[in-house]
Amino acid sequence: MKNSFIMLLLVVLTACAADVSQNGAVLPDKEPAESRLLYPYAPSGQCKGCHADQYMQYEESMHAKAFTNPLFNTQYFKDVVPRAQRDPALVQEARKCIACHAPTVFMNYTGLVSTPEQANNFETGVTCDFCHTLAGYADNGDYLQNPSGKKQGPFQISGAASHHSEYSGFMQLGDYCGRCHNATNHVGLEVKSTYYEWRESSYGKRGFACQECHMNKNGFLRDGNAEFDRGQAAQMNLGLHNRKQQEHEKLYNHAFPGAHSISELQDALLLDFKVGTRAPDEAGRLHFTLVVNNERSGHKMPSGSSDLRFMWLVVNATTADGATVPVELSVSASGSANDYSIAGASSDDAAILQNDVPKGARLYRTVLINSAGRQSLYQYDAVENVFDNRLNAAELRKERYYLKLPALYSGKIKLEAHLYYRAAPSSFTKRLQIKDFSPVLVASQKKVLTIEMPHAAH
Ligand code: HEC
Ligand code: HEC
Ligand code: HEC
Ligand code: HEC
Ligand code: HEC
Repeated sequence: MKNSFIMLLLVVLTACAADVSQNGAVLPDKEPAESRLLYPYAPSGQCKGCHADQYMQYEESMHAKAFTNPLFNTQYFKDVVPRAQRDPALVQEARKCIACHAPTVFMNYTGLVSTPEQANNFETGVTCDFCHTLAGYADNGDYLQNPSGKKQGPFQISGAASHHSEYSGFMQLGDYCGRCHNATNHVGLEVKSTYYEWRESSYGKRGFACQECHMNKNGFLRDGNAEFDRGQAAQMNLGLHNRKQQEHEKLYNHAFPGAHSISELQDALLLDFKVGTRAPDEAGRLHFTLVVNNERSGHKMPSGSSDLRFMWLVVNATTADGATVPVELSVSASGSANDYSIAGASSDDAAILQNDVPKGARLYRTVLINSAGRQSLYQYDAVENVFDNRLNAAELRKERYYLKLPALYSGKIKLEAHLYYRAAPSSFTKRLQIKDFSPVLVASQKKVLTIEMPHAAH
């Protein structure tokens, strides 16, 4: 009985493994024949039967949707492809989009993918088998497949399953994620830098990898700790032979929460008010500080596609009877047309931000400009990064504000602060004619103050 189970297991596992190419990474310059894949990656559906949990998590992830998500798909087919067809300088850039957003297509289709059908001959997105056979990166940036064809992972397995898999130290490093999470465009401008931001952060310096935060069960650290799921890595259900697999202390979650998971973003940053004196100055101004805490992320925020993403602060104050008290940033806009840190202060805001952010709000973002010197939302048009005030990894950023109190006011004042995030401006989604992103409320804080009246003579 037990032997026949092992035989069956061997047959199934060997069949899976046999699907994997034994090739290195050298890309042939010929198109593959329709019927034969150069690098025959196993479809993710094939893993589902035994790795149902990982599959369910993966299905929700942006890795599974990296090619099909409307933002990428529309930008690629409506904008990048037509331009690459006119301008050969953009063909390599377009190939690079595919290398990261659909790597198994990149490995098998060596021309310019110009129709969805060409891509759909392969599995798109960052697939199970792609990630689990990725052994390294060639000097030219190409992917190196594990020569043994085995699925690499965190366990040191012996016995039947070792025909199918083997241990990998590389997969546990930030470098493994970094090649895709850092990007340079065709003029050599760095347009994504999550990996470098992480490498320079206290997390990167300690070797505290992306996986620890993005593959733990919460999607970020709680009180500095990563909590992982534990249990079985495979559920084998081969007819009558229902065998209990080994229990593992640490299982990695495959949902990869990020900017697209609203519930994860909501706890990712924290706000705190610091109020010194409760008495206004001679001009009736009460000064206070709002601390924006990015201790939970291992890179800047926003990160990733920072050409598109941005965050902003909204701070309100009301008196005990609900009347609004004006709140101002202590530093005002510099007055230059290129002050990108305050909404409405840059001459590009009218076209790009439009009404997404209330005028005067503190903004956190990167600004890329095109050859005409105007802000550009298109990474492939950008020639220079002219502004970056995003929150650093583990930073506590202090923003100074003041209230303009009503004359002779004493009593309670309620302060409220909100930090919002947007994956892309609505002007961008409108232009691509895709569904807009709603702003996400990342963090909120309230504080009630009792104002002492310095003016009233006793
Ligand atoms: C027939 C069942 C079956 C299928 C199908 C299957 N696996 Fe596995 N896999 C297993 C078993 C059993 C283990 C060993 C689990 C253990 O030791 O807890 C395993 C282990 C692994 C590991 C851990 C390797 C290590 O050494 O750390 C990875 C990664 C993995 N599989 C990836 C995949 C991928 C990717 C696919 C789809 C291409 C896949 N598997 C398809 C049964 C299967
Ligand atoms: C973006 C790359 C990536 C993708 C896509 C991916 N994995 Fe993983 N997987 C990892 C990493 C990283 C680990 C942890 C490896 C380590 O630290 O050694 C892991 C761990 C595993 C393990 C070990 C058990 C566990 O959960 O920790 C299994 C099994 C596994 N993956 C299967 C799959 C399957 C099946 C799919 C698709 C449904 C998939 N993976 C998709 C990167 C990926
Ligand atoms: C200390 C924990 C931590 C580490 C380490 C970490 N991240 Fe993050 N990351 C976060 C948090 C928290 C967020 C924001 C909330 C969320 O989206 O889950 C985030 C967001 C992201 C985003 C979306 C950012 C945006 O604004 O679009 C990407 C992409 C990302 N991380 C990739 C990575 C990569 C790649 C690495 C390693 C090079 C890494 N992260 C290391 C915690 C971490
Ligand atoms: C083959 C390239 C590739 C590799 C390797 C890779 N990623 Fe990604 N990842 C992507 C792409 C492309 C996206 C964006 C999908 C989209 O939004 O279109 C993405 C999305 C993400 C997101 C979600 C960001 C969001 O905005 O919601 C996180 C988090 C993330 N990756 C973390 C990781 C981590 C951690 C690793 C290493 C274990 C890793 N990735 C390895 C290509 C890759
Ligand atoms: C080096 C790898 C890499 C290259 C090359 C690359 N991307 Fe990406 N792209 C990513 C990663 C990783 C993310 C996710 C970052 C994040 O979540 O903020 C992403 C996110 C995006 C997004 C935002 C998607 C979303 O769901 O919010 C768009 C749009 C996009 N890429 C378009 C492109 C286009 C078009 C090209 C080619 C001109 C391209 N990318 C080239 C890795 C790459």
